Amino acid sequence: MFLEVRDLRKSFLDGEKVLKVLRGVNLQLDYGESIAIMGPSGSGKTTLLMSIAGIMEFDDGNVLLEGLDISLLTFSQKARLRLEKMGIVFQFHYLLNDLNVLDNVVLPKIALGCSRREAYNEASYLLNAVGLYSKAHLFPSNLSGGEKQKVALCRALINAPKLLLADEPTGNLDKNNARVVLDLMMRLVDELKTSLLLVTHDRDVARVCGKILVLNDGMLRMSDV
Ligand SMILES: Nc1ncnc2c1ncn2[C@@H]1O[C@H](COP(=O)(O)OP(=O)(O)OP(=O)(O)O)[C@@H](O)[C@H]1O
Ligand SMILES: [Mg+2]
Repeated sequence: MFLEVRDLRKSFLDGEKVLKVLRGVNLQLDYGESIAIMGPSGSGKTTLLMSIAGIMEFDDGNVLLEGLDISLLTFSQKARLRLEKMGIVFQFHYLLNDLNVLDNVVLPKIALGCSRREAYNEASYLLNAVGLYSKAHLFPSNLSGGEKQKVALCRALINAPKLLLADEPTGNLDKNNARVVLDLMMRLVDELKTSLLLVTHDRDVARVCGKILVLNDGMLRMSDV
């Protein structure tokens, strides 16, 4: 199995109260498989993705990536693992406002020690694919919400990740643009043989994945529709 989540538990402290968000989540994602995760707002979808990414510490359980238990890694080993194997489209994209579009996209590739020329070539290819090549020199503050989302997708894909974690990657897009971004994402995922976990509120978006799971009451279950 490529990714295995076993009995994952995560709580937050809300004053005196303990908010149990993940109450024993189990998940298996095979090589090249795509799974959509749905569920109400606040059900813990982002918490789950960030735990799998090794960005958020969890209380109990295991996340195994190709058999490697990520909680055994140090902070910098986790960062390296993300750079080498994961692409993450954050719900609020987190582009760096001081860098232009092109430099935002190349960042993870440069961080891996790739030459600037190669990184810029790859970024140009991806930006062209999402129709943003002509805006490569602009800064994020000059982009629309949907354009920022497209840039975030390019950044997530630039290192040809084995695992793509996409948190509402089309949440800010109108239906047409959502379709374009989704189709492109699925084409690249297919080309790169990437495994995908896609969080979405939109059932039509979820249907591009082979399987739909629902997170509710801290547990992940098969969708009944
Ligand atoms: N750092 C934090 N401290 C305290 N509570 C948190 C923290 N992060 C998340 N939570 C709480 O955990 C719950 C799950 O949050 P999460 O962001 O994972 O939900 P979500 O399913 O992604 O929601 P949405 O669909 O609105 O993005 C929420 O009730 C939220 O308030
Ligand atoms: Mg969320």
